[in-house]
Amino acid sequence: MYAVTLDGFGGPEVIRWEQVPDLPPPGPGEVSIDVVAAGVNRADLLQRQGFYPPPPGASDIMGLEVSGVVAETGEGVHDFRPGDRVCALLSGGGYAQRVVVAATQVLPVPEGLDLAAAAALPEVAATVWSNLVMRAGLHAGQLLLVHGGGSGIGTHAIQVATNRGARVAVTAGSQYKLDRCLELGASVGINYREQDFVEIVGELGGADIILDNMGAAYLGRNVRALADDGQLCIIGMQGGVKGELVLPELLGKRGTIHATNLRKRPATGRSSKAEIIAELRRDLWPLIAEGLVAPVVHAEVPATDAAQAQQLLDSADTVGKVLLRIDTV
Ligand SMILES: NC(=O)c1ccc[n+]([C@@H]2O[C@H](COP(=O)([O-])OP(=O)(O)OC[C@H]3O[C@@H](n4cnc5c(N)ncnc54)[C@H](OP(=O)(O)O)[C@@H]3O)[C@@H](O)[C@H]2O)c1
Repeated sequence: MYAVTLDGFGGPEVIRWEQVPDLPPPGPGEVSIDVVAAGVNRADLLQRQGFYPPPPGASDIMGLEVSGVVAETGEGVHDFRPGDRVCALLSGGGYAQRVVVAATQVLPVPEGLDLAAAAALPEVAATVWSNLVMRAGLHAGQLLLVHGGGSGIGTHAIQVATNRGARVAVTAGSQYKLDRCLELGASVGINYREQDFVEIVGELGGADIILDNMGAAYLGRNVRALADDGQLCIIGMQGGVKGELVLPELLGKRGTIHATNLRKRPATGRSSKAEIIAELRRDLWPLIAEGLVAPVVHAEVPATDAAQAQQLLDSADTVGKVLLRIDTV
């Protein structure tokens, strides 16, 4: 098969499209998928630079999510059959013509949803749902602040939260991105280059939940922007890894800080990928089937131009996800 490979670690110039060994057939509980499209994630850029090695046992090919058609099923797989349209959450290996993955990390693609676009869903859906719903218990009437509202994660979080009856405030660095967030259902847009989110969210009574991509840079201000009993969910460290926490501010409002990573979760058991995927299938997939939550795709780029796709994501000019088309090359 062909795959996107790395000729050493570094900038986009180390990216190649070349033949690699075929994968073995799926083992018990696994399925193989002929890949149509793969999602491009910030983690892939870090992996390319040598800063985010795949977890033990995972493929060293980049790619954390795909959509495609089931090729074969291993022993004991009853949920899927060859020919099924699916998308899947991976620990690696997605930038390739075929992947083999545990059936517990595979989701059916609802009738009517574009198969390539479905590659935009597994990573954002699993991250947003596991943080906002499974951890923080997001519910109707709450105020959610989403940092980086125009990101892949942000555009999905807005839709999920508004469908649960929450109000959503977002930060973004341009009016264009804020406008897209408002179109998706956000009710408050904050340009972080010109406005102070602590002040604006404070005037609204504080955020019940904050979904944060910035880490250290926003830690203190996020705590200040929380409402009483508020919860801060840190999922990214774009603003650094080491921050200072003024504990009385957190204690005084009985605040909680969660910090989670998806890729390093176990495949099965407590807090596993399988647990999240099962909840997505039960509770989120009906909303996707009805079109109430939809993939937001900024661009589809042929896999032979994977370097360009990663540069596009890195430019921060995107709203939503960048996809690699594997089937058209
Ligand atoms: N923990 C996990 O399991 C997990 C899983 C998936 C993703 N993530 C993390 O979630 C974040 C979003 O991922 P993604 O793939 O959706 O990334 P993405 O599409 O590349 O978006 C990154 C966003 O950061 C925004 N940003 C930059 N500086 C900002 C600032 N000072 N304040 C607010 N926003 C700012 C950019 O928007 P502007 O142009 O508006 O600045 C951009 O939209 C990343 O940090 C990623 O590492 C974590």
